[in-house]
Amino acid sequence: MKNLDTKIGDINLKNPLICGSSEHFIELSGIEKALDAGAAAVVIKSVNENMAAKEQLDKTDYALIDSNFRKLPWNFQPPRDASLFNRSGLYPEPFAEWLSMASRADKIARKYNSYCVASLIPASLDKLVEHAIAVQRAGIRILEVNVGAPHGNEAAPGAIRLEKNANHIHDIITAVKDAVHIPIWVKLTGQSDDIPAMVKAAKDAGAQSVTLMGRYMGFIPDLETGKPMLGTHAAYGGPWALPITCHQLVKSREKIGTDFPLIATNGARDGLDMLRFLLSGARAVQMTSAIFTSGYKVISRSLIQIEDYLEVKNLELDDIIGMAADRAESYGEQESRKDYWRDFVPN
Ligand SMILES: Cc1cc2nc3c(=O)[nH]c(=O)nc-3n(C[C@H](O)[C@H](O)[C@H](O)COP(=O)(O)O)c2cc1C
Repeated sequence: MKNLDTKIGDINLKNPLICGSSEHFIELSGIEKALDAGAAAVVIKSVNENMAAKEQLDKTDYALIDSNFRKLPWNFQPPRDASLFNRSGLYPEPFAEWLSMASRADKIARKYNSYCVASLIPASLDKLVEHAIAVQRAGIRILEVNVGAPHGNEAAPGAIRLEKNANHIHDIITAVKDAVHIPIWVKLTGQSDDIPAMVKAAKDAGAQSVTLMGRYMGFIPDLETGKPMLGTHAAYGGPWALPITCHQLVKSREKIGTDFPLIATNGARDGLDMLRFLLSGARAVQMTSAIFTSGYKVISRSLIQIEDYLEVKNLELDDIIGMAADRAESYGEQESRKDYWRDFVPN
């Protein structure tokens, strides 16, 4: 059996599979199923103090979309290329309830040699810092701060802070870092034209890792009704997002160096996709939609796929991290082939 250990700053994960925050981690039962299936860490459903962000959970809706933009049945057996289109809200109960559940979850995780990660999505900075201190006091060992939730611009004003400005990200993470000593992971938006600059800002402010990158917002007109699917804009993700995330992983690795641990999110549907993220420079991968839409068995299957790949290639996990990233050539380095473009032009 291959050793799948991977190190994220001070944290040793038993394998690179982290379950990303979502509705299936609002309750302990879902968290325990993920731990049972072998996840190295589970990021608990995010919380903040804002009532509108909580109430938004009662207005959520979810649609699986095929490549013709048609709605697929929700039968927990979606095709691999299905995209997920959804609105979402935050943890619905008061912060104190979330904290007590999160603290129990991380205690349970210890028995599995795993972690349950607290996830805060800022509304106000003061409350973010106050909540980070409470997380640490409750004995939770890792804190993820998501400053890039895709719904930020559609949610009620002040409910969800969506940051694209590197200086603001630096200030937010500095404030949290000054208040707590537990490892901080920073989850960033994909809706920015300079993601590596945001990664650097989070690193410089003392984050132990950055999770790259949140989903995009989408809008899908329904041809039958002439109305927007799900009635409005919503977050959109699918396997098509993987190359875009990989691109940003490679560019961020180039900017900040190979030592800083990156965590990938947005696009992994199985263990082979996780490998693609690792080859692009991630040290671990957060998988969310695949588990939400297909069940917890995706976790154990993905880990087997990673082990099998390493066996067949006769490689260790550490060998493959950034392997493809470090082989990327510039356009200038590409072989020159005169008139080759003609092969691609239709008659
Ligand atoms: C239904 C749903 C709810 C989510 N809720 C949260 C959340 O509360 N906090 C958060 O940081 N990310 C949340 N996410 C984002 C995921 O953790 C993940 O980053 C994103 O879905 C991309 O990864 P994937 O392609 O594996 O789904 C949510 C995603 C989905 C699909």
